[in-house]
Amino acid sequence: MGFADWFKVMGLADWYQFLGHSRPFAPTFVDKDYPDLTGKVYLVTGGGTGIGYEVTKKLLGKNAKVWILGRNPAKLQKSVDTFKEEFPGAKLETIVADLADLATIKPAAVEFLKKETKLNGIIHNAGVMTPPSGSKTKQGYELQLGTNNVGPFLLQTFLDDLIIAIAKAEPPNTVRILWVSSSAHLMSCGNGGIQWEDLNYEKAAPGLTTQATAYGQSKAIDIYLSILWAKKHPNSGVVSVTCHPGNLKTELMRTTDVGRIGEIALAILSPLHPAYLGAFTELFAVLSPTLTTADDGAYIIPWGKVGRIRQDVKDGAEGENGEKLWTWLEKQIAPYL
Ligand SMILES: NC(=O)c1ccc[n+]([C@@H]2O[C@H](COP(=O)([O-])OP(=O)(O)OC[C@H]3O[C@@H](n4cnc5c(N)ncnc54)[C@H](OP(=O)(O)O)[C@@H]3O)[C@@H](O)[C@H]2O)c1
Repeated sequence: MGFADWFKVMGLADWYQFLGHSRPFAPTFVDKDYPDLTGKVYLVTGGGTGIGYEVTKKLLGKNAKVWILGRNPAKLQKSVDTFKEEFPGAKLETIVADLADLATIKPAAVEFLKKETKLNGIIHNAGVMTPPSGSKTKQGYELQLGTNNVGPFLLQTFLDDLIIAIAKAEPPNTVRILWVSSSAHLMSCGNGGIQWEDLNYEKAAPGLTTQATAYGQSKAIDIYLSILWAKKHPNSGVVSVTCHPGNLKTELMRTTDVGRIGEIALAILSPLHPAYLGAFTELFAVLSPTLTTADDGAYIIPWGKVGRIRQDVKDGAEGENGEKLWTWLEKQIAPYL
């Protein structure tokens, strides 16, 4: 896939929405609208950096207890110290796990479940974008597929029972799972966004467009997961949704070299906004009272409204491709349960 192919897979409505992300309307569901979250517990993956950091800060500001998951204990501790300066009495805990190494997830989840009895929301926010060609996880998956999809799927599996139990006990529709996707799902391949014949993009020519298409696939899969998790857990009471948080200045592009021309094109087509704005999108998905289980699979766009998923990706998730993906993911995680 390259630029020409992206033009083929995106319809006019997709372009309209994509270009609109550069200048979204002002957020309408913000801190003052959030309920007091005393006694509520949230898990934010990647909660020490970027959008996850801003989400954690807002949740702490409403008195929630927050668990932040990260792979680097020193970096996590630094974030905890910063949060505690602002919120000295914060109920803040850390979980160390590397989503790119499936073997680290069970010990972390077991430890979490030993210490915690509540869970009002899981925000699968951690992710990587366009790492150098050939980057792999410990188990050999293309890094974005492994980190953005297989790892979170395994983590979620360990947390299913707890979050479903809490959803039965809490006010209806308040318990949520957010699978953070991206407008980059628009750049995934046609016919559903998943390149089944080469899931790890090993046969494609190495380079930035291949990495971007693989990122698009991983973000299409996040959308699939929001739809499929709800389908596979009927009557759970948990609201499972997805989002494009916005085009934001974070560490996400740390390994992305688009060159000078690419920088100019991005500045025009996709200018970046401060990271805290992305927290409004994610927290609309997690806290807005307008969303219910009838909205499972809803795709929230900046800075908090329901947007449109590329049609073949939505159809794929709701059809045979979705079933195929769920079966594939279950097979991948089976040795790590
Ligand atoms: N920024 C945007 O414009 C944008 C747009 C659309 C979607 N998104 C999505 O938003 C989410 C958050 O991204 P961001 O922009 O906040 O980027 P970021 O600043 O790079 O934050 C990503 C977080 O994910 C963590 N992470 C990466 N690999 C991990 C692994 N193997 N195990 C555990 N944690 C890992 C990072 O931890 P380390 O610090 O240890 O690396 C970091 O905390 C991502 O899912 C991204 O795809 C972002």
